[in-house]
Amino acid sequence: MGEPGSTKFQVDLRRHLREQKVERRLIELICEIAEASKYIINSIRTGDLGVAGTSNLYGEEQLELDVLSDRILQKRLKSSGVVSSVVSEENNDIMQFNCENDVCYSVAYDPLDGSSLVDVNLAVGTILSIYQGDNILLPGRQQAAALYILYGPRTTLVYSTGNGVHEFAMNQLMEYTLVKENITIDGVGGIYSPGGQRNLYTSGTEKYVRSLEESGHKLRYSGGFVPDINQVLMKGRGIFMYPHLQGRPQGKLRLLYELNPMAFLIEQAGGAASNGRMPILDIVPEGIDMCSPVFIGCREDVAMAEKFIAAED
Ligand code: AHG
Ligand code: MN
Ligand code: MN
Repeated sequence: MGEPGSTKFQVDLRRHLREQKVERRLIELICEIAEASKYIINSIRTGDLGVAGTSNLYGEEQLELDVLSDRILQKRLKSSGVVSSVVSEENNDIMQFNCENDVCYSVAYDPLDGSSLVDVNLAVGTILSIYQGDNILLPGRQQAAALYILYGPRTTLVYSTGNGVHEFAMNQLMEYTLVKENITIDGVGGIYSPGGQRNLYTSGTEKYVRSLEESGHKLRYSGGFVPDINQVLMKGRGIFMYPHLQGRPQGKLRLLYELNPMAFLIEQAGGAASNGRMPILDIVPEGIDMCSPVFIGCREDVAMAEKFIAAED
């Protein structure tokens, strides 16, 4: 990778996408998203932790950070000229934009996942799912690309266009440069991230979690989907789950904005993502706000979850 004499750390996002032979308009789109993230990170770092509808020190109306992040992304996607349909967790309708190209893309995104963690200074992220054409209600397997940006102590961007998973970090010039290529999940055991209230777990999930604990898995749950998934991906082992709960059979996480893009990345890294019975990426969305239980991470751990659920739930 790279020209003679260059190091991997000098490969920026655009160059990496070109070297991966990603379709030209998709490169533009991903680079626009990367640009938007610079403004989002700036709002997270310096913005007032105000509540929508109130005014700040200067008498200006404040926006909640997730609403602000949504506007930043929406504006960029709209002006990119390569996007036809957009749907955001912050917006209940599919928006249609003017795409003047022969190849257009549609984007489903969560502008700021874990926004309630900002006031306690925990890591948050932006998650995006990209399809070619203007249909967003497709099984996740048909995604053209998926990516997330993690706003932690460092800002990182992780993407896949179906040819491996690659991590970039933002440098002091706010450019994303390559950190790690072709990330894989192949280790067994290690960590588990269990979302949802444990006393509402069904018996299959409860027994599964107990088996993880008995086999020595360590609890690592931050409450932020992006950092929790990033941990599994970067450590190359472990499992994240937000299961079906008693009284909440579809769990909490949303298929379009959260699960499909993460499932695409994790499968690309050699891991698996299941709703407990079938792969997340094969679910046909019933609507833009559809939720699903999720068990996602290393293949063996996900297969074990399916076994417990099939036997008990
Ligand atoms: P959002 O902030 O976009 O509404 O989503 C938060 C999500 C996700 O980050 C995390 O995995 C999950 O909610 C945590 O939920 P619990 O508080 O129920 O654990
Ligand atoms: Mn979210
Ligand atoms: Mn959100």
